[in-house]
Amino acid sequence: MHDFHYKNGELYCEKVLISTIAKEYPTPFYLYSYNTIVGHFNKIKEAFKDVDPLICFSMKSNSNLNICKALVNEGAGLDIVSGGELFKALKVGCSAENIVYASVGKTEEEIKEAIEKGILLFNVESVPELIMIDTVAKRLNKKATAAIRVNPDVKPYTHDYITTGTKEKKFGVDFKTAEDIFDNANKYSNVDLKGLHVHIGSQITEAKPFVEAIERVLDFLKKNNIEIEWLNLGGGFGIVYEDEKASTAQDFAGKIVPLIKDKPFKVILEPGRFIMGNGGVLVCKVLYVKTSSAGKRFAIVDAGMNDLLRPSLYEAHHDIFPIVKRESETHKYDVVGPICESGDYLALGRELQEIIPGEYLSVMGAGAYGFSMASNYNSRPRPAELLVMDEAVKVIRPAETRQDLIRGEKILKEFKAK
Ligand SMILES: Cc1ncc(COP(=O)(O)O)c(C=O)c1O
Repeated sequence: MHDFHYKNGELYCEKVLISTIAKEYPTPFYLYSYNTIVGHFNKIKEAFKDVDPLICFSMKSNSNLNICKALVNEGAGLDIVSGGELFKALKVGCSAENIVYASVGKTEEEIKEAIEKGILLFNVESVPELIMIDTVAKRLNKKATAAIRVNPDVKPYTHDYITTGTKEKKFGVDFKTAEDIFDNANKYSNVDLKGLHVHIGSQITEAKPFVEAIERVLDFLKKNNIEIEWLNLGGGFGIVYEDEKASTAQDFAGKIVPLIKDKPFKVILEPGRFIMGNGGVLVCKVLYVKTSSAGKRFAIVDAGMNDLLRPSLYEAHHDIFPIVKRESETHKYDVVGPICESGDYLALGRELQEIIPGEYLSVMGAGAYGFSMASNYNSRPRPAELLVMDEAVKVIRPAETRQDLIRGEKILKEFKAK
């Protein structure tokens, strides 16, 4: 559920008519619905209340400070994957005790910072990383706390690029390695091994893969007589982009909670997409319409793959809604951006009302992995991010300027080696 809806043929975000926003702010821009985002967070909280999880919002899905702050205010912790995200997490006042840190490539410097700040858990992805954490912690004369990320080799039935818990992927360690780590825990005297982490992928629409992964983890704990304080189930709850039969938070919880309810560990969840995906759209303007000699219609808009990469990267589907509906014939359009790549598109062969240059389109389901994956490719400033709260519209990140495009760059006085 989300709060983007039509009334009298015009698209609203909460109580605000998107066409009025588009008159005031240059396109493209991201537009988020506060009520949708907080609503999704609370749906997970309510559904999983019997295990009272620490819900660490996955910042990689959207790391705008205001989005993170809004969720932290609701009681969320944060799931980070870099020193940059740690910096932003602390900036929004998230207690370090509510921060968990995954990533297969944490640098020594990033590890040092995270230990110094006292994060809740490193999600450790390899033995060399564990050795590095232990070494750094020793040097700092501190004890780091960690969960071992296991790769349970479970198929999540999602796009290959967002499958993480099968054995050929780079994430986590297999159960045998995890067993060795726990057996030799005293080797890592400055790391307190407090838990297990299992994140099997993203945009998973049914509970079955989670159940399989959890069963394997529970089996592992039992067989090896390992006691943990935390079980981190990762993120991955899928959403409806097109016609998926996505499970609700209640559906997921209905299958997951019974498995972990009476266990002697606390639970962490790391949802990103479920909270943010349908909480945001990308609004763009149609620049031109043209028909190729092959009879193909292109709607060329002012947003491209630099603004929203998902269609180009994953062939992901995003609904395209006109912000004003008209009575007209429909045609099939490729909705494409201005970037010099044939892979630069937002939608292909999409049946839409007759598109008129100058009109606005809303690319739906763009709140997660939208702005956070945006780039300056083709020297295009990244778009603004706006947050709607009932009838208010707040700029939570202004559009970048030309000056932002050259920030930090210096032209050498002369091109000589010495
Ligand atoms: C370790 C980890 N946790 C959580 C997430 C968030 O996943 P999602 O946005 O599907 O909930 C990801 C995303 O890839 C991840 O890698």
